[in-house]
Amino acid sequence: MAETQYDFGMVGLGTMGRALLLNMADHGFAVAGLDTDTGKVDALHTEGAGKPVNGFTDAQTFVQSIRKPRAIMMLVPAGAPVDSVIHSLSPFLESGDFLIDGGNSYFKDTDRRVKQMTEQGLGFIGMGVSGGESGARRGPSMMPGGTPENYERIRPIVEAVAAKFEGKPCVALMGSGSAGHYVKTVHNGIEYAVMQLISEVYDVMKRGLGMSNAEIADTFETWNEAELQSFLVQITTTVLRYQDETTGKDLVDLISDKAKQKGTGKWTSQDAMDLGMPIPTIDVAVAAREMSGLKAERVVATKILTTSANQYPYAKDEAIAILRSTLYLTMLLSYAQGLALLKEASHEYGYGTDMQTVAKVWRAGCIIRSRSLETIRAAYASNPELANLLVDPTIAQIVLEHEGALRKSVIGAIQASIPVPSMSASIAYLDGYRSERLPANLIQGQRDLFGAHTYERVDQEGSFHTHWEKD
Ligand code: 6PG
Repeated sequence: MAETQYDFGMVGLGTMGRALLLNMADHGFAVAGLDTDTGKVDALHTEGAGKPVNGFTDAQTFVQSIRKPRAIMMLVPAGAPVDSVIHSLSPFLESGDFLIDGGNSYFKDTDRRVKQMTEQGLGFIGMGVSGGESGARRGPSMMPGGTPENYERIRPIVEAVAAKFEGKPCVALMGSGSAGHYVKTVHNGIEYAVMQLISEVYDVMKRGLGMSNAEIADTFETWNEAELQSFLVQITTTVLRYQDETTGKDLVDLISDKAKQKGTGKWTSQDAMDLGMPIPTIDVAVAAREMSGLKAERVVATKILTTSANQYPYAKDEAIAILRSTLYLTMLLSYAQGLALLKEASHEYGYGTDMQTVAKVWRAGCIIRSRSLETIRAAYASNPELANLLVDPTIAQIVLEHEGALRKSVIGAIQASIPVPSMSASIAYLDGYRSERLPANLIQGQRDLFGAHTYERVDQEGSFHTHWEKD
């Protein structure tokens, strides 16, 4: 039996797994890795030379090399590979040991695994990890869910390796059960929305204003220095400026316009529908990726549905100013929708998620980190029960200041036949949320007419049905 010595184990030594292990070793933790691919184990040994790191290809030796109660993290693709790793490690685990799933797992799979492991006297932490490979190496944002006891066991390690915001680690317990994976799913839903919003702004600048990639990159760079400061705006400038080495052209123009997805954005929308929570900006961001996938059909439709689009109606300086306001406000509206969903999910699934803690953990290291998250954290600090960020006094002020620009952006883009689904959904969300009375009374009347579904009245208590079509 190998001598018990390692503080932490990692299964899956791909780029993310190796990067996170090396990060832990840099912080003085002795760590062990497991992979059936000897090439990856060799890579760990090479990259970790001189550090307290060891790689294994045999599950039993690996498990037995970790100190008890064992904390073993899996960084393998979501779905069947996670179950397969659990199956292969289980025979060697002992009571009190626990596994951590660091992938983008579907939260209902995490619920199932928590139950399965608990029945075996073992623990399970579903932990969202954001920041990609460089985040894993230099400091990711992490969103663990599970029991406080298990979290305490890994807290010193994850706090040491996490990204820091003003010295505070971007990791904290998100709540019980699958809370961590749920929070990460919503993080990704917001990620989809913000990426779509940035791409709509880019499209308006390109098609509507005829700006070059370099000019657009310069504009985003300026924006990133102030209220729009965020990882996604920052990387947009890098993507726009990159020149293809073989052709010398801007690489972005050579990339096929079909966006792929692995599922987290869709799960956010699906679960929001199950919970009856409106998150239209995220929904249409998912739909926009699906529209992008219909490339062959779009090529045909371009020829049949030819449009002599009107000119984009605004002059360049004015347009850039309204687009800046639009992106700032719609990003806030995306966070507001995602966090309202998360609050409802925490209530429905009994997670006990603290919204201020979520905002804190997202302030650095993750893909949706932005300057706005500090404003969002402050909103939850002053009212932890806030139903929706939009009614926080500071955020309401920002909304009122920028909504005119968003409205103008949508009108201008529609006039020029430039699709802006996420911008449009955002202004509709805002207008719907602040409408004291919506036309749903008419829907209720229609439902009652054709299906006797009954309706409630504003002037009397109870449930009513009317014979609408008098004989
Ligand atoms: C992160 C990212 C990461 C991954 C997404 C991409 O937080 O580091 O969200 O998890 O890049 O899963 O998702 P899609 O492939 O669905 O765009």
